Amino acid sequence: MARLDVTELFHGISFPGHLHTQDSLQLALEFQFQDSDILIASYPKSGTTWMQEIVTLISSRGDPHLSQTVPNWSRAPWLEQYYRAAVLEASSTTPRVITTHLPHHLLGPALQGSRAKVIYVSRNPKDVVVSFYHFHKMANFLPEAGSFTEFLNRFLEGTLHFGCWFDHIKGWTSHFAKVNSLLHITYEEMSLDLHSTIKKVSSFLQCPLVDDEVNSCVKHCSFSSMKDNKMINYTLIPEDIMDHSKGSFMRKGKIGDWKTMFTEEQNKYFENVFTSKLQDCTLEFVWEEPDEE
Ligand code: A3P
Repeated sequence: MARLDVTELFHGISFPGHLHTQDSLQLALEFQFQDSDILIASYPKSGTTWMQEIVTLISSRGDPHLSQTVPNWSRAPWLEQYYRAAVLEASSTTPRVITTHLPHHLLGPALQGSRAKVIYVSRNPKDVVVSFYHFHKMANFLPEAGSFTEFLNRFLEGTLHFGCWFDHIKGWTSHFAKVNSLLHITYEEMSLDLHSTIKKVSSFLQCPLVDDEVNSCVKHCSFSSMKDNKMINYTLIPEDIMDHSKGSFMRKGKIGDWKTMFTEEQNKYFENVFTSKLQDCTLEFVWEEPDEE
């Protein structure tokens, strides 16, 4: 499936026609979760691939074989993408690991009553928008990024592909977290203390690991290991779909890279919108490496 110039508008949200169809999106909303399922939910560029890697490595008790031989989209397929049913049918792995970028207001009903374990991954939105901007330049299935100012405006209005970041984080972390089994992990937590994060995720998944196994997970999901792993770095994807001459999927992997892009004016505008949209929200964000504060 290429459909690089197609956009699917589904419940008011734009999705790339590449890998998404009206049917695949609708089927996601009707998905029958099993209690043993592990669902990784995130807004794009929040550390999704990193969490897929962490979950794979934990399930393999630190053994990198699976993560070095099977692409991430086969180990942890996106629920809303068209190939998902075929991948899950062909796989005999339990628990099933599934990924989604859908917002909670769309997927929540399918999860109701299920005991699937949900890991919600978030990242400070200034770094999300910068990472997403660079990704648009290399991903030929996404619209033209335009200037960074235009892109930032679309992010803050919630009109980029995959919808509004504010709705996404509020939806998954508010009501849902109170009634379902949800672990909220931030990109910054992974970045600042990967070892403790892996222990936290393994205990949530009821898969306790001994120290050597945790250390092996840490080693194999470091930025440098993942950057060189073609099962994760998307170099298996043909150039016409992802143009690696225009950037790398594993780009910088840093907290606070937004400072290299945002002007003072853009930052002020961002802060205003952020404060007004998240005024009732108690979430705290890490905007830069602690030693820079
Ligand atoms: P940058 O573009 O800021 O480098 P997603 O998987 O949700 O699309 O997120 C991609 C972002 O996560 C990219 O951010 C990528 O570099 C970063 N990332 C992936 N694995 C990482 C790791 N092991 N350590 C740090 N950052 C990682």
